[in-house]
Amino acid sequence: MMIIAVDGPAASGKGTLSKRVAHHYALAYLDTGSLYRAVARDTVIAGGDPRDEAAAVAAAEKLDPKTFEDPGLRARGVGEAASIVAAHAQVRAALLAYQRAFAAQPSGAVIDGRDIGTVICPNATVKLFVTATPEERARRRYLQLAEGSIPVTEDEVLADIRKRDERDKGREAAPLVKAEDAHLLDTTNLSIDAAFKAAIDLIDAALGRSGSAS
Ligand code: CDP
Ligand code: CDP
Repeated sequence: MMIIAVDGPAASGKGTLSKRVAHHYALAYLDTGSLYRAVARDTVIAGGDPRDEAAAVAAAEKLDPKTFEDPGLRARGVGEAASIVAAHAQVRAALLAYQRAFAAQPSGAVIDGRDIGTVICPNATVKLFVTATPEERARRRYLQLAEGSIPVTEDEVLADIRKRDERDKGREAAPLVKAEDAHLLDTTNLSIDAAFKAAIDLIDAALGRSGSAS
C-alpha cells in the first residue's frame, strides 16, 4: 500500500501538488489542514475561543468530515485560527485516528499537512517536504485571495505567513519540521507543472521505477 506524505509551510503549493500526485498514481487524497481549519471554525461557531484547549478539543471530537470542503475554510483568518487550535496537543490527539485510518485505506493515499511524515505516517512510502521562500508563498496566497475578491495587500499576506510559520515551527506539539528521510522540494522558482514533474521523478526514483510525468 502506497502512502505519500507531503509536508511544508503555508502556501508552499503542497495541496496543488498533492492533488496532482494523487491523481497520477490513482491514490486517495487528504488535505489535513482542512481538519484544523474546520476545528477552528466549529470552535468559534460554538462560541468558544481557539486559544481555549477544552473548547477546541470539544469541536475536534465532534468534527464532521462532510464539512471539510466548505469554501469558507479558505478565508483569510481561518488559517491563523487553525494554527492556534493546532498547537493544542489534545486537539492533535483527537484528529490522529481519522488521519491514520485515511492513510490505511487499501487504495493508498497522498496526505498533506505539517506532521504527516514525522507523526501521522512515519513509515510512509515516500515523504516530500515542499518549500518556497516566504515572499514567493505570500505572492501565491495573495493571488489566490485576490481571485476570491478578498481585500488584502501582499504585505499583509506576507506578515500572516511569517506569523503562522513561526507558530507552526515553534510549537511543542508536532512542530513543522522536515522528516530526516523526506525529500526536499523547493518550488520557489518552479511552475506548478515543473514542481509536479520534480515530485514524480523523486517518487518514482524512491519506488525504484523509471518513468516520466505527463
Ligand atoms: O493551506 P495552508 O498551508 O495555508 O494551511 P493549511 O495546510 O490549511 O493548515 C492550516 C493550519 O493548520 C496550519 O498553519 C497548521 O497550524 C495547521 N496544521 C497542522 O498543524 N498540522 C497539519 N497536519 C495540517 C495543518
Ligand atoms: O496547500 P498549500 O497552502 O501549500 O498551497 P496551495 O494552495 O496548493 O498553493 C498556493 C497557490 O500557489 C495556488 O494558487 C497554486 O496554484 C500556486 N502555486 C504556484 O503558483 N506555483 C507552484 N509551484 C505551486 C503552487
